[in-house]
Amino acid sequence: FVDFPREGIVFRDICPILKDPAALSAVIDLFEEHVRRNHQHVDLIAGLDARGFLFGPLLAQRLGVGFVQVRKKGKLPGPTASVAYELEYGKAEAEIQKDAVAPGQKVLIIDDLLATGGTLYAACELLKTLQAEILECVVIIELKELRGADRLQPHAVFSLLQF
Ligand code: PRP
Ligand code: HPA
Repeated sequence: FVDFPREGIVFRDICPILKDPAALSAVIDLFEEHVRRNHQHVDLIAGLDARGFLFGPLLAQRLGVGFVQVRKKGKLPGPTASVAYELEYGKAEAEIQKDAVAPGQKVLIIDDLLATGGTLYAACELLKTLQAEILECVVIIELKELRGADRLQPHAVFSLLQF
C-alpha cells in the first residue's frame, strides 16, 4: 500500500499471510527450521506489540517454549521496565514486565517487520535491562534500505523476505 499510514511510506502488509493458512504455516515452518539449525537452546520468545503477537506464540508453541510480550506503554500490570523509541512514522514507548525474563535466559525476539529498527532496538534495550541473553531478532519482512539491521548490531537479524 502506497502512502499508508503517511505520505511517502510504502506499507508492506502481512494480512494476506494470516488469511492463508498454508502461508502462515510456511512462515512458522521457516522460522522453526532457522531457529533449530542456529540455536541450541531457546528459553523464551519475546514478541513485539502488536504484530509480533500474531506470529510469536505460534513459533513458541512449535519450539515448546514460552512467549512474553513487549507492549506499548500503559498496557502491562505490575512492575515494568520502559523505553521510548522512534518509528518510521511516529513515536512510541515500549514496556515489559520485570519478571518476564530471568537474568541469563536466552531470548529470541520476533516481529512482523524491520523498518528503521527503532522498535526492535527498544525491545533489545528492555531485554538487556532484565539481563536477558538476546539470541537474535527474527522478522518476516526486512526493509533493507532503512538499514535497521545495522542499527541492531551486534544483535543478528534473520528475515524471510527483503525489500
Ligand atoms: C510496525 C511494525 C514493527 C515496526 C517496525 O509496528 O509492526 O513493529 O513498526 O518499524 P521500525 O523498524 O522502524 O521500528 P507499529 O509501531 O506500526 O505498531 P503496530 O504493530 O501496533 O501496528
Ligand atoms: N509495513 C508494515 N509496518 C511497517 C512498515 C511497513 O512498510 N514500516 C514500518 N512499519
